[in-house]
Amino acid sequence: MKKAIIILGSSNSNGETSKMIKFVCDKTNYPIVDLKSKNIGEFDYEFKNSNDDFLPLMEEIVTNFELIIFATPVYWYAMSGILKTFFDRFSDCLETRKDLGKKLKGMEMAVISSGSDKELKNGFHMPFIETANYLGMKYIADVHCWIENGNIPNEVKLKLTNFTKQIQ
Ligand SMILES: Cc1cc2nc3c(=O)[nH]c(=O)nc-3n(C[C@H](O)[C@H](O)[C@H](O)COP(=O)(O)O)c2cc1C
Repeated sequence: MKKAIIILGSSNSNGETSKMIKFVCDKTNYPIVDLKSKNIGEFDYEFKNSNDDFLPLMEEIVTNFELIIFATPVYWYAMSGILKTFFDRFSDCLETRKDLGKKLKGMEMAVISSGSDKELKNGFHMPFIETANYLGMKYIADVHCWIENGNIPNEVKLKLTNFTKQIQ
């Protein structure tokens, strides 16, 4: 089993994306960090946010884990704003905390998305893949999910089971 952490970036801590990651966690026991429970400000050119929760969280991630699994709802064809804010803050790791940026190199990335549509539009994964490339991370897997009548349909359960095998 890899040392992995799931970063939940939804506006609903107990919503549909959360249901998907619980399915994965039942099989893997991977820990979850809910970005909604963290105080992580937008990227600031003067790094005025350097005392918020971002740097301690990154420190924990690069020290203890080898794989980051980002879990996001699809909001307006893209990752959620809360997750994008987290991605913007990677820039802190390239400027004021280069030590953290260096440790991201060689780590792995995977993505779980949840939308109302069964298909993602082209390009949804591009910011993840290119960010992984830029940071020297390895993009290893993704899975797109949806809910039907409040439940995870069997088709999605199968996709999540296959995904779980890829990230173990
Ligand atoms: C602001 C907003 C924008 C959305 N945009 C899309 C979209 O572009 N494509 C899509 O398939 N679903 C869209 N949805 C539906 C959500 O992606 C879907 O219901 C998702 O599973 C919600 O996960 P959550 O409960 O973690 O927020 C949108 C929902 C919201 C609230």
